[in-house]
Amino acid sequence: MIRIGVLASGSGSNLQALLDAVREGRIDGEVAAVVCNVPGARALERARVAGVQAELLPSKGITDREAYDHQVVSRLRAHGVDLVCLAGWMRIVTPTFLDAFGPTAAGKDCPRVMNVHPSLLPSFPGLHAQRQALHYGVRFTGCTVHFVDPGTDTGPVIVQAAVPVLQGDDEAALSARILVEEHRIYPLAVQWYAEGRLEVHGRRVRLRDAAGPMLDGVTNPSGDR
Ligand code: GAR
Repeated sequence: MIRIGVLASGSGSNLQALLDAVREGRIDGEVAAVVCNVPGARALERARVAGVQAELLPSKGITDREAYDHQVVSRLRAHGVDLVCLAGWMRIVTPTFLDAFGPTAAGKDCPRVMNVHPSLLPSFPGLHAQRQALHYGVRFTGCTVHFVDPGTDTGPVIVQAAVPVLQGDDEAALSARILVEEHRIYPLAVQWYAEGRLEVHGRRVRLRDAAGPMLDGVTNPSGDR
């Protein structure tokens, strides 16, 4: 059973997906703590409803990012967290944070901080990934769960899901379609971690005992038939 710490800044729908997966036995672990940096964020309410300890650490106006991350780390440590899941955490984590949750022998040399991002990285890192995809005109975008490194959305990729961009999509419609996939793949990645099945080799993450490759291609738009 791993102890998961979730960091959220907003609605917390990915937090909810993790809470639901824990409750339904799809993750061998528990959400031990939620840290939120925005007063009134819905993520706080979701934690409360689930009976999970939520810590509000407002970050607005704080310029010393390392000192702030020290506080976050000490709260997570107080709850004995093994794995940290960024779930709409709209702050760049500092080296202080990443050092505190670096690989351990018990974690079989895996990093211990994951993030979910609403694009197929390395396309469209940073803010407003869905808007970036719409402006670029891609036919597919999607979401990525990755380990976190010091860059912005640059860490080793664990799992991705593709989502078509449909004619007439606006940012809200596309974001909603991507979120469905985020909620599906984030719990999967956390469970793989809990099972000790993830191995990091440089940039590449290997999933032990994965099923064979899917060879069917997908094309969007699919064209006239
Ligand atoms: C999600 O789409 C997540 O991928 C994104 O913020 C949203 C949070 O939604 N994260 C980023 O863009 C981080 N770069 P949620 O609060 O409902 O989980």
